[in-house]
Amino acid sequence: MKIGIVGGTGDIGEGMARRLSSRYDVVLGSREAEKAHTTSECTIGLLKQRGLKSSCTGVSNQEAVDAAGVIILAVPFLHLESTLSGLSGFEGKIVVSPVNPMEKKDFFIPVPPPEGSAALLVKKLLPGARVVTAFNTIAANRWKDLDAEIDVAVPVCSDDPDAKSVVMGIVNGTSKMKAYDAGPLAVSSMVESLTPLFINVARYNKMRDVGIKFV
Ligand SMILES: NC(=O)c1ccc[n+]([C@@H]2O[C@H](COP(=O)([O-])OP(=O)(O)OC[C@H]3O[C@@H](n4cnc5c(N)ncnc54)[C@H](OP(=O)(O)O)[C@@H]3O)[C@@H](O)[C@H]2O)c1
Repeated sequence: MKIGIVGGTGDIGEGMARRLSSRYDVVLGSREAEKAHTTSECTIGLLKQRGLKSSCTGVSNQEAVDAAGVIILAVPFLHLESTLSGLSGFEGKIVVSPVNPMEKKDFFIPVPPPEGSAALLVKKLLPGARVVTAFNTIAANRWKDLDAEIDVAVPVCSDDPDAKSVVMGIVNGTSKMKAYDAGPLAVSSMVESLTPLFINVARYNKMRDVGIKFV
């Protein structure tokens, strides 16, 4: 399976590439293909040092979309709409949104768009795509730190049962993550609002990279 990462040079994209490229063909995208190439070479080198094989290619965001069947949108909410408006070819593909629209005031708060959530905005902007919400609550540091397992729950939402099942399979095959079906895409606003809560909890309790488990 080929997994494309739009914005793959960022915190979460780079971390995802480290974890996913030993199991899947990762096609890491950027606005600048050269930057993506550098990140992919770093990823391959890092995994090689650990005796692990890695399939990771650095390309433009558009090439990542074209090459992959599953595309992760690893860009800040602020740049989500402009990024998607410059890309095409999402029809029939699984598009995963880990995007959390939030703002920092005295503390972090969710700031969902008028559509209700980032994922619902993606669905509106990419009508032919099979949109899935996942990975919203996993901090980039957890993805990046290959010395530690990622032992957390991952709520997954979609209106497309087959797409949801594919993404839940990716979740369950990655480190010690456990996927939970959180329902339709309408639930994504709740999932997206967890991260600002977790960052506040981390800050007020002197914790790092707070995550969740369902028991
Ligand atoms: N960081 C976390 O711990 C975390 C955890 C869970 C979910 N998320 C979500 O994951 C998404 C990515 O977060 P992140 O922390 O990885 O973001 P980031 O590092 O700030 O940015 C990710 C990538 O977005 C691209 N980008 C930056 N500015 C842009 C612009 N003006 N226009 C178009 N593309 C731009 C850049 O790629 P190029 O310059 O290579 O194009 C950048 O490397 C966010 O929506 C966030 O809510 C993050």
